[in-house]
Amino acid sequence: MRIRIEVGVLGATGMVGQQFINQLAGHPWFDLVWLAASERSSGKRYADAAPWRLDTPIPEGVADRTVEAATPGVGPRLVFSALDAGVAGPLERAFADAGHLVVSNARNHRMDPTVPLLVPEVNADHLALLRTQAKLRSSSPATPASRAEKTSRGPTPGVARSTVRSATPSGIGVSSRHAAASA
Ligand SMILES: NC(=O)c1ccc[n+]([C@@H]2O[C@H](COP(=O)([O-])OP(=O)(O)OC[C@H]3O[C@@H](n4cnc5c(N)ncnc54)[C@H](OP(=O)(O)O)[C@@H]3O)[C@@H](O)[C@H]2O)c1
Repeated sequence: MRIRIEVGVLGATGMVGQQFINQLAGHPWFDLVWLAASERSSGKRYADAAPWRLDTPIPEGVADRTVEAATPGVGPRLVFSALDAGVAGPLERAFADAGHLVVSNARNHRMDPTVPLLVPEVNADHLALLRTQAKLRSSSPATPASRAEKTSRGPTPGVARSTVRSATPSGIGVSSRHAAASA
């Protein structure tokens, strides 16, 4: 039996978040279990919080979900981030510090030498950089609570950036048409 992986989307109500949802809903590997956005959307029904802009309808089961606050430590370990660049830097870092693996479409950590820039079909092995990133992060100040959380969630949480633009057996991403539209 194939193991399924629970995933969440940060910035789920935005344009790129909708692309993530579209590609994650009904995915053969992933269960989309968590939708998070700003306090403006938190507590609202997804369909009321998100002005759905894609040509395809909102995937089944998503419209009635409640949008949650983007609180580090809450939600599944693996989160795809479509956060506004104005908040993605510290917020994605806080999620990584709390033990999440963050795969981001935001630009904020792009130039960080310990953040792998991934095209999974080409350089999936660059994920090994997450070990270096985790080591550096663990040597920076953290609260006892965040350390305990990090340990309980596994060895290599971190931030990665994916430039993948299509769904393939080895990756999830944003289609070039919509990525260009929201750039
Ligand atoms: N990879 C690419 O090709 C590509 C292309 C375009 C954009 N991007 C990047 O992808 C990201 C999203 O772009 P977009 O066009 O989808 O933006 P958008 O439509 O403005 O969506 C931004 C999302 O961030 C959420 N957000 C804003 N402030 C927040 C906060 N303080 N806490 C938690 N969530 C917050 C918003 O939630 P609310 O709805 O509740 O406000 C919304 O879900 C940006 O960083 C952008 O630069 C990447």
